[in-house]
Amino acid sequence: MTSDALLSGLSCPVIPVVVIEEIDHAIPLAEALFSGGIAALEITLRTDLGLEAISRIKAQFPEKPVGAGTVCNPEQFGDAARAGADFIVSPGATSALLSTASNYSLPFLPGAVTASEVLCAMDKGFNTVKFFPAETSGGAAALRALSGPFPSVSFMPTGGITRENLGAYLRLQNVVAAGGSWLTPRALCVAQQWEQIQQLASDTANLSRALKSEVSQ
Ligand code: 3PG
Repeated sequence: MTSDALLSGLSCPVIPVVVIEEIDHAIPLAEALFSGGIAALEITLRTDLGLEAISRIKAQFPEKPVGAGTVCNPEQFGDAARAGADFIVSPGATSALLSTASNYSLPFLPGAVTASEVLCAMDKGFNTVKFFPAETSGGAAALRALSGPFPSVSFMPTGGITRENLGAYLRLQNVVAAGGSWLTPRALCVAQQWEQIQQLASDTANLSRALKSEVSQ
């Protein structure tokens, strides 16, 4: 499956970018997000617990797409694949990472924000990219501009996205999904406030579906 097919088929086009600091938080956090209507997660490898969290969440919710994020080198790519990740996300791209990804059938979203970076991704056959860090890289205006030379490229912006600016991104034709950490505030995770996270997820799922349906009309 391509990244675009995976992301465009999601019932909710918002993907929480998750940092796991306690392994026992992985299941209740995933449960809160899925119960609220979130369709897919990106578990970052920013902590040593990321891979174990992916395995546990996949065992508990086998039908839900769970990706590995902050995958920065070929070794991490292989680790994430073995942990059971359904898709792989990188904040940028190197030729080593792009070559490794070409050897796997897993959907891969390399990071790209400039025209040259988009071209490098396309050159290796990756037409869906992570646009990171979105807000400081020109935001929705930059994505609109990139749609001119790259009509076949889809973007997943992350970095600085909030409930308030989500609409500016999801209304764009070339944005297939958006991601970020605002659904999993660290303070709520530390305090294990899963109900509040479920409410945030539910609010965002409803909002994002309404925004995306405006685009398809
Ligand atoms: C990511 O890796 O996508 C970002 O760290 C998410 O950015 P945010 O924390 O600003 O949402």
